[in-house]
Amino acid sequence: MAFDIDMIKKVYGQYEERINAARKVVNKPLTLSEKILYAHLWDGNATEAYERGSSYVDFTPDRVAMQDATAQMALLQFMQAGRPKVAVPSTVHCDHLIQARDGAAEDLTRAKNESSEVFNFLSSVSNKYGIGFWKPGAGIIHQVVLENYAFPGGMMIGTDSHTVNAGGLGMVAIGVGGADACDVMAGLPWELKFPKLIGVKLTGKLSGWSSPKDVILKVAGILTVKGGTGAIVEYFGEGAESLSCTGKGTICNMGAEIGATTSTFGYDESMERYLRATDRAEVADAANTIKEHLTADPEVYADPEQYFDQLIEINLTELEPSLNGPFTPDLYTPVSRMREEADKNGWPVKVEWGLIGSCTNSSYEDLARAASIAQQAIDKGLVTKAEFGINPGSEQVRYTADRDGLLKTFEELNATIFTNACGPCIGMWDRAGADKQEKNTIVHSFNRNFAKRADGNPNTFAFVTSPEMVAAIAISGDLGFNPVTDTLTNRDGEEVKLDPPTGDELPNKGFAVEDAGYQAPAVDGSDLEVDVSPTSDRLQLLEPFAAWEGTDLTGLKLLIKAKGKCTTDHISMAGPWLKYRGHLDNISNNMLIGAVNYFNDQTDSVKNQLTGEYEAVPATQRAYKAGGIGSIVVGDENYGEGSSREHAAMEPRHLGVRAVLVKSFARIHETNLKKQGMLALTFVDKDDYDKIQEDDIVDILGLTEFAPNKSLTLVLHHADGSQDEISVNHTYNAQQIEWFKAGGALNIIRKKQAA
Ligand code: F3S
Repeated sequence: MAFDIDMIKKVYGQYEERINAARKVVNKPLTLSEKILYAHLWDGNATEAYERGSSYVDFTPDRVAMQDATAQMALLQFMQAGRPKVAVPSTVHCDHLIQARDGAAEDLTRAKNESSEVFNFLSSVSNKYGIGFWKPGAGIIHQVVLENYAFPGGMMIGTDSHTVNAGGLGMVAIGVGGADACDVMAGLPWELKFPKLIGVKLTGKLSGWSSPKDVILKVAGILTVKGGTGAIVEYFGEGAESLSCTGKGTICNMGAEIGATTSTFGYDESMERYLRATDRAEVADAANTIKEHLTADPEVYADPEQYFDQLIEINLTELEPSLNGPFTPDLYTPVSRMREEADKNGWPVKVEWGLIGSCTNSSYEDLARAASIAQQAIDKGLVTKAEFGINPGSEQVRYTADRDGLLKTFEELNATIFTNACGPCIGMWDRAGADKQEKNTIVHSFNRNFAKRADGNPNTFAFVTSPEMVAAIAISGDLGFNPVTDTLTNRDGEEVKLDPPTGDELPNKGFAVEDAGYQAPAVDGSDLEVDVSPTSDRLQLLEPFAAWEGTDLTGLKLLIKAKGKCTTDHISMAGPWLKYRGHLDNISNNMLIGAVNYFNDQTDSVKNQLTGEYEAVPATQRAYKAGGIGSIVVGDENYGEGSSREHAAMEPRHLGVRAVLVKSFARIHETNLKKQGMLALTFVDKDDYDKIQEDDIVDILGLTEFAPNKSLTLVLHHADGSQDEISVNHTYNAQQIEWFKAGGALNIIRKKQAA
């Protein structure tokens, strides 16, 4: 499994000098987040102080982690770079493609059959390029990363939004798109807007039914789903030190639900205990040598208001267990108010399912605390009223929990133990009866509870809570049940009360596992072949995109003038399309099918200028491509917001769209377009959006003198013979102009590699 101690020691070896350099330019005490960021500058020692929330900075992440759904395109792109091996330690984790239905063994066998070609591809490409491969059933990416790779003060990127989980072990860990992962694996810098900083001071100590989950549920209630956008949330205070390492992971994990760039905690004894318990004493010893740099300067926590952009204070002693939902993770309800809120809002109180698992809450401690409730139910003669499902976070957690009798306890309560995988959390749940779309309530320990997320039923009211609360509520079958105050009637008709949960933070007898599910890469993979069948409909090797032809672009047809919101979901839908994530041509059949056509207010219906008929967007674009005709997409404000999904840029590129012209871009999407060799342009005068007509033919002039800060000219040839000339801006720097000329950033890497 090989955590890379040499790499960690190298990072720690640079810390002191880099932090001293940062302190000099920033000229004030540093937060932990700043220390980690400045210690990972691509250019080495800091020479200037970056402005939070506005400076774009190049970083050197220490690791890359990828899950099976997103790894496919990341690795297909990496193969294009022509590098023999990844430049930084990287891992792939097969966790998203396993559906929960019958139980771990059957479900895993079925998934291996259904997705064998994807798993084989990921395994062979990992083997060839020096990437650690975690097989299906090995566990959920973020639990496995926390157990094996995360280290205090490190910086990691991962192709999954809950990569942030590794903040529980003191990292700055950030979710990115596959294109960014590909760059870092190819040895390129990774750019990030220097984040703002939100401090969360935790005082007091948790007790009774309250858990780390309740901390983040409370924070989500305060900050809402957008409140953390562009910021790192840094937790500190005596309360922070009292939490277990995996509990800190839970809190950081759900930082994704408040939009935070990431969240982190300073290095402390809980992290040291966790490192030693997970066989990483060497990492703990190394961290101890630079302890003072793995937390903020003392002045910061003494007077946090001065150093954070926003400060929140939570007293853990007063924190109540709570449930967030339905349909959004920031709708906070303390358990004492749940019955009243449910009655008021018409939320169904009968609970049908209790689910424990997901990267948020699937640690040993989580299972132990929930099992302590299950054991009480057995001892006190209670039966579960709701159905009960468990996804352990990793094979190591599962094996240890099994050895210690925790799983048996759940099974005695008729729980189904599902695979060590995401399962219902990502909608990979074949829930009996969900297709009837009946109104019902479930409680789970996951992080997200948007409509349809777990079972596809828009009428499932899902509430997020701690594993121990899931257990208690599943046993009661009642959303309004408050285990702190309420009693339950057992099978002898007696009123019994559940005692607060207990459970070891770490297994008393240590962790154990027979086969963790890890495949180490070949030492020299140069002669190895990567498995991709040319007839596969799920995987397709990428061909390099063509270089710019060296002239202005003329005669482009307008493909669509998108109206209003056009997120990456509108451009490249998820849902059933997920299975084509590794096949660019097939997934391109979803290109822009969610965008609203300005001219008819419909989705997936645009005028094909060759036939005059209204047709689907991908079909229309394929007709242009077949005719060797380029096209242009026009959009509104914040075009491409949402995720960093690179498919949203690759699909138009693949189908022959040459430029995207909008009022404004979401920056990540804009960069993705540039990386793929597209022209990403903005109106100088936003009112020019109104000049675009349905039958327009467009010329883009000035490309032979394409230069930073120099606008380009567009000529719009209208159907009535008139024309408009408009100016458009771009944000390409010199390097990005080279990407455009080469036909994409990867073409440049490959050329350099070949040279
Ligand atoms: Fe998997 Fe759900 Fe986490 S999909 S990675 S368990 S958020």
